[in-house]
Amino acid sequence: MSAVLVVGGAGYIGSHAAKALRRAGYDVVVYDDLSAGHREATLGAPLVEGDIHDVPRLRETLRARGVTAVMHFAAWARVGESVRDPRGYYWTNVTGTLAVLEAMAAESVACFVFSSSAAVFGEPEETPITEAHPTRPINPYGETKLAVERALPHYARAYGIRSISLRYFNAAGADPEGELGESHDPETHLIPLAIGAALGRGALAIYGDDYPTPDGTCLRDYVHVTDLSDAHLLALQALERGAATTAYNLGCGRPASVREVVAAVSRVSGRPVPAAVAPRRPGDPAVLYASSEAIERDLGWCPRYADLDTIVETAWRWHQRRGTH
Ligand code: UFG
Repeated sequence: MSAVLVVGGAGYIGSHAAKALRRAGYDVVVYDDLSAGHREATLGAPLVEGDIHDVPRLRETLRARGVTAVMHFAAWARVGESVRDPRGYYWTNVTGTLAVLEAMAAESVACFVFSSSAAVFGEPEETPITEAHPTRPINPYGETKLAVERALPHYARAYGIRSISLRYFNAAGADPEGELGESHDPETHLIPLAIGAALGRGALAIYGDDYPTPDGTCLRDYVHVTDLSDAHLLALQALERGAATTAYNLGCGRPASVREVVAAVSRVSGRPVPAAVAPRRPGDPAVLYASSEAIERDLGWCPRYADLDTIVETAWRWHQRRGTH
């Protein structure tokens, strides 16, 4: 079997994908600077501690390990922060990704799976969001993901690097076997914060309850991180069979409101989730959910953990075990 370089493989989604790859029989090498990732999340896979801008280091790693494909998860991913620090976002998410592609071109590595985001769409004009929906990001984070997506067809034509971009909606949940989970510092995502509230770490702020939705809170498409990992594996296998450069939306297509998530956390944990309504968070669309028909049709992707309580339950077990939020 061939080796896959998992860039950002010590982070939340990358670590789950690396585990799935190893289970499928691939040799995995993790490349991570551990700025946000966790050494223990590599689960013993070989780790190269390096910066994504370090092209010589990347080239050496690709060559020495016999890498034939790259999955690229390393990025900054906080929308609000990207508005305050666009330079950091362009440097990490665009310049950093181009450095990874530079190394791949130099070492003739032809398959690339890219972590993109629903943020490339901006304010949705219609839902569910298909791949045909216009891409008009409303923040620097989304712009950086779209900039890479736009570069990729050119890199395919000029350097033969074929890629699949996967636009995650709301990545959530944790490894059902309990080995991996979500651990950000600071944490900004709804499910871990609601779990934190259930564990007595302060009330959850519900950002707005006056949206034009059934219960007034925002609707999102929560997709289990293990289902995302399955999609990465399918994308890699498609590229290995010669698939052309493309992008897919990735969600379960069933939106859940903030209040529904809070209720699920309370149900699963058997505890109250203290929560208070706060003002809207700038830049939050009322409704965001995906049509994943294209990836289901083309690659046979089928989410195994689509049920909200199941997603929350895996996250709850991880947080309880870790004793952190
Ligand atoms: N929310 C709260 N209180 C909180 C945190 C979140 O009410 O303390 C609400 C948000 O307003 C939103 C929902 O919960 O309606 C989900 O918020 P998250 O921060 O968990 O996730 P986002 O939908 O904001 O972000 C996700 C991805 C981003 C991506 C974005 C695209 O995590 O990477 O979708 O818009 F950019």
